[in-house]
Amino acid sequence: PIPVIAIDGPSASGKGTVAQLVADKLGFAYLDSGALYRVVAFAAHQNNIAWDDADAVAKCAKSLQIKFIHDQVLLNGQDISNEIRTELMGKGASQVAVHAPVRAALVDLQHSFLQSPGLVADGRDMGTVIFPSAPLKIFLTASTEIRAERRYKQLLGKNQAANYENILQDLQERDARDQRRASAPLVMAEHAILLETDNLSIADAVNTVLDAFKK
Ligand code: CDP
Repeated sequence: PIPVIAIDGPSASGKGTVAQLVADKLGFAYLDSGALYRVVAFAAHQNNIAWDDADAVAKCAKSLQIKFIHDQVLLNGQDISNEIRTELMGKGASQVAVHAPVRAALVDLQHSFLQSPGLVADGRDMGTVIFPSAPLKIFLTASTEIRAERRYKQLLGKNQAANYENILQDLQERDARDQRRASAPLVMAEHAILLETDNLSIADAVNTVLDAFKK
């Protein structure tokens, strides 16, 4: 079988950066599953569909043509990479991701990322639901304060408005929503390796994952 490295964890834990670097090192494909939920939130918003309307959002999700080309995210051929990275769409993603029919609508698309020689899949339920037989599962996390600080710096780096207190509160709300939802809640998969990154550099986290994969 084609190997999958599943990297799950909460918002702003550094998963995306680590997963992308691991994929580059190994020449593996990369799935940013969070981007898919962001695209769904964006499309729903564009079509005046409320994020809490599970059936309407799921129907919308099924109708979407989503493509990843290099660093670009295309929706029906249009580059929406920047539009989906706002805090508003992060919030929307977290709300649409609660609905089981929305999650179900994205399963086949996520599986289609699996290709030789391997895949690094980043998200909340990669090791538990989408790729349960992945030979390597990582749970990457950090304290809420450190994650808020990282998100704060990330936003400033992109010249977006950022307020630490708001970010912290938002992260707490998002964590709670991810952990409490009935469908695919954020939990550590069985046999996953826990990586606490408060005092771990990106490079060290990447090397830990690569070492674990080689074993
Ligand atoms: O930037 P952040 O880590 O918060 O977000 P992301 O990875 O882009 O994902 C956005 C939202 O989608 C998260 O807050 C989750 O609620 C949801 N999500 C999910 O439910 N399942 C996944 N596999 C990936 C993301």
